[in-house]
Amino acid sequence: MDAAFDPPAIPGLSSGRVTMPAIGFGTSQLGDCGEIVAAALKAGYRNIDTAWKYGTEKGVGEGIRASGVPRGDIFLTTKVSHEYLRAADFAKSVEESLARLRTDYVDLLLIHWPAIDGTPLAETAGALARAKREGKARNIGVANFNIALAREAMRLCPEPLAVLQAEYHPYLDQTKLLAFCRGEGLVFMAYCPLGRGRLLKDETLAGIARARGRTIAQVALRWIVQQGGIAPIPRSANPRHMAESLRVFDFTLTDEEMRRIHGLARPDGRIANPAGRAPAWD
Ligand SMILES: NC(=O)c1ccc[n+]([C@@H]2O[C@H](COP(=O)([O-])OP(=O)(O)OC[C@H]3O[C@@H](n4cnc5c(N)ncnc54)[C@H](OP(=O)(O)O)[C@@H]3O)[C@@H](O)[C@H]2O)c1
Repeated sequence: MDAAFDPPAIPGLSSGRVTMPAIGFGTSQLGDCGEIVAAALKAGYRNIDTAWKYGTEKGVGEGIRASGVPRGDIFLTTKVSHEYLRAADFAKSVEESLARLRTDYVDLLLIHWPAIDGTPLAETAGALARAKREGKARNIGVANFNIALAREAMRLCPEPLAVLQAEYHPYLDQTKLLAFCRGEGLVFMAYCPLGRGRLLKDETLAGIARARGRTIAQVALRWIVQQGGIAPIPRSANPRHMAESLRVFDFTLTDEEMRRIHGLARPDGRIANPAGRAPAWD
């Protein structure tokens, strides 16, 4: 086997409520992704992120089957979209997601975005807790919630939340949200960890990558995992990139390098900011 594809050991990330592999694999925009997901599992990923909205649940289910990796070895996340936050719609969306994924539970179920149609958060939080109590989700959480909404979800949900998923990469300062998650014992799952590719020409990251004999993607992902308590979920359709992104647990950035990367945050750094759907970000 090509040495580049020998899967590296991936550490676990634990908050007390949930344990997951400290890096995951994103699947948005991958379409009919069965072969890609099987390749990611072959490369060593055991933490897979999907959502109804991505249209990739069917491919993820097929990829898991085709890979031969036991379902129990995989931490699988899906999300219920903002169109389905009423309790009955939510329950139906979960059922349909499980059917497409060809599994009877997910390891993590997230509310994908806060409601924009006035659906009470208490109703959705109740439906989220019900999915957990019925064994359809081992853990629950929210995505794209600001601190105030996340606090409210934690207060209203009859079951504890374990995860908050939000955008994070060197161009976006998330100091406040990270401090909140740490204080509340929530694992932070970092989406768009490569800035959807925008970081990959950054001069500062390129300089650090050259000095370390690593790639820009590895430096950006290392900067995230080295902070602790954060699991990035990069997406790639390229097996070489998939393997490369997993190799971020065998080197350390200096405090000075970490600071320089923190200094790259910019006011217009946010990528996922859909008008009319995004909350008031912290
Ligand atoms: N909860 C939410 O609302 C939300 C929103 C956005 C994203 N997400 C999740 O987060 C995941 C990741 O975010 P994203 O897909 O937007 O973007 P991303 O992971 O930041 O960037 C993906 C881009 O990076 C490239 N890439 C990946 N690994 C690379 C490597 N090692 N070297 C060079 N290029 C590399 C990919 O190209 P190649 O294919 O050529 O490698 C692709 O163009 C999503 O797939 C999704 O699962 C969640």
